[in-house]
Amino acid sequence: MNSVVSAPASVATPQAEEVVRLTDVKRRFGATPALDGVSLTVRKGEILGIIGRSGAGKSTLIRCLNGLEQADSGEIHIEGRNITGLTEKDLQPLRRRIGMIFQHFNLLSAKTVEENVALPLKIEGLGKAERLKRAAELLDLVGLSDKAKAYPSSLSGGQKQRVGIARALAARPALLLSDEATSALDPETTRSILALLKGINQKLGLTILLITHEMEVVRSVADRVAVIDAGRIVEEGQVWSVFADPQAPITQRLLSGIRPQLPEHISARLSPVSGDEQILSIDMAGPAAQGALFADLSQALPQSFRLVHGGIDHIQDQPVARFFIAVPARDASLPEKVQTFLKARGARVEVLGYDANHA
Ligand SMILES: Nc1ncnc2c1ncn2[C@@H]1O[C@H](COP(=O)(O)OP(=O)(O)OP(=O)(O)O)[C@@H](O)[C@H]1O
Ligand SMILES: [Mg+2]
Repeated sequence: MNSVVSAPASVATPQAEEVVRLTDVKRRFGATPALDGVSLTVRKGEILGIIGRSGAGKSTLIRCLNGLEQADSGEIHIEGRNITGLTEKDLQPLRRRIGMIFQHFNLLSAKTVEENVALPLKIEGLGKAERLKRAAELLDLVGLSDKAKAYPSSLSGGQKQRVGIARALAARPALLLSDEATSALDPETTRSILALLKGINQKLGLTILLITHEMEVVRSVADRVAVIDAGRIVEEGQVWSVFADPQAPITQRLLSGIRPQLPEHISARLSPVSGDEQILSIDMAGPAAQGALFADLSQALPQSFRLVHGGIDHIQDQPVARFFIAVPARDASLPEKVQTFLKARGARVEVLGYDANHA
């Protein structure tokens, strides 16, 4: 059925060791099950995006991971170590393995940029010279060497988040957690921060767990995505394949803003049973989406369709195509032939209705 996502992808590292493993984790607040049996793994070196609407349980998941919140049941392993039930004291060394960046940066305003970055190292007991040397390296990594002596109040949002990233990396964590780290930034600054995170992921092999309600964030940097809804993981997979063929209704809703949709003025007038033209959606992804589908369709069945809307996106270097076409329907055999042709080429085809009024 899902021929649209049957192709293998290049980013998979199934053999890589797990940095995080959650097994059936539950956390309830009164009558609200914030996490309702979450099982999830994050592999070394990957960027996993977690998406979900407000209240889905994303921040609770992150707080359970860094030990700020205790799970009611289930197990959480970080680098192979079970952290469930650990005392505050035993959690300390594990917390140092996790760096964290926040929506509102959480910098100390009375400290300079380099002091903010060096702070986690002070807590670790490093001497001042060493701390400043490491802070300088990190500021170089995030492109802010010239701001070492500046105070946070003099920085832009994007610069503040770069300081946040440098600080999160100070203690050389195994995992970087990001809770809506770009939500307070404009689109261009968001892109530069995402490029920085992707660069660090590739350069240092850093494992990143990104929590976001912005689909574009996941689309542009994540390797895999998990969709959380009402405290449950409802869908999970490689980003290009989930974005090409979202299965869960909530995933379809979350992605509706960045996947082509039939224009409202057309969908509003469709009839479910009859009309001059049959309107079809066509989804293809991966190797199946390469090639001259519409040119071939024109040649095989001349005058068999009109292109209505759609386009080709590229996610993780894989083409992800979604088009809407109108097929003359006065003779019922033509829509059938068109559908048969498209399906034979690996497309997922759906009849959305009939349009009597396209002029
Ligand atoms: N400390 C708490 N006390 C009571 N209820 C809580 C607490 N923390 C979270 N919840 C509830 O648990 C559910 C999940 O909350 P959570 O903050 O994890 O959602 P979220 O996915 O991060 O949402 P958002 O996108 O708005 O940040 C919500 O219904 C929330 O009201
Ligand atoms: Mg949240």
